[in-house]
Amino acid sequence: MSASQAEPPIVEPSDDDVPVLSVEDVTVRFGGVQAVSSANITAYAGHITGLIGPNGAGKTTTFNVITGLEKPTEGRIVVEGRDVSRLSPYRRARLGMARTFQRLEVFGSLTTRENVLAAAEFRRAWSHDKSDPREVTDEILERVGLQSVAELRVESLPTGLARLVELGRALATRPRLLLLDEPGSGLDNTETEALGDLLLDLAQEGMAILLVEHDVDLVMRICDRIHVLDFGKVIAVGTTAEVQADPVVQAAYLGADVEGAA
Ligand SMILES: Nc1ncnc2c1ncn2[C@@H]1O[C@H](COP(=O)(O)OP(=O)(O)OP(=O)(O)O)[C@@H](O)[C@H]1O
Ligand SMILES: [Mg+2]
Repeated sequence: MSASQAEPPIVEPSDDDVPVLSVEDVTVRFGGVQAVSSANITAYAGHITGLIGPNGAGKTTTFNVITGLEKPTEGRIVVEGRDVSRLSPYRRARLGMARTFQRLEVFGSLTTRENVLAAAEFRRAWSHDKSDPREVTDEILERVGLQSVAELRVESLPTGLARLVELGRALATRPRLLLLDEPGSGLDNTETEALGDLLLDLAQEGMAILLVEHDVDLVMRICDRIHVLDFGKVIAVGTTAEVQADPVVQAAYLGADVEGAA
């Protein structure tokens, strides 16, 4: 990853933009706990959408519903106009959805290269794109800045780098919708800045990105729209400026001890 000198302009989605992802009135109950309550969330091609909120607000549960790991009690998930609510996680991946996990899910005993290659081969098995997975892997390793650790086993890497391996693996499936659950955790300032640059580049190329992140500086820098979750409810949606100025959000999250929340 190379640090870019000038920030690309941030353009807000307009009414003409078609959402790649619509979370429609999703509710998730775990016994007595209402983890997500009638949430509506949209993510647009070419934009990074932030999903923020305190611990336990329902962010990861929302990702699990979007990707099909968790069934919503109510509501549906629409991707590029198609209701995918009944599809398996695998089918959703084939439709162009990829994610990273808050609790890292990488193949620790494999090298960085092997992790990315596995995903590139997975894609080639079902895609019309028959690019050589080894070439795709080289391209991704360079893009994510992982060449120097390409031949190392992932279990030997610091968490921040292992998270980037997981990001590389997600990118190797060439997703149109990318869901990132706290990708910045474990990264130092330079790495975080490079991650932000990479995500901005990916969005500029047309990807829809939904970003869960406690690093508020990163969120405010790269997102153009933000949804704020609190106790499972979307309490605010707007531009970074609107959300930052919202007294309800201040009280629920931004004004609170954000470091402590992370
Ligand atoms: N499998 C489960 N069974 C029961 N309760 C759950 C389950 N998964 C999550 N919860 C509860 O649902 C709520 C939302 O959790 P979730 O992990 O989605 O929050 P989050 O916003 O991702 O939090 P964090 O910022 O800490 O990652 C919490 O109260 C959590 O304890
Ligand atoms: Mg979470």
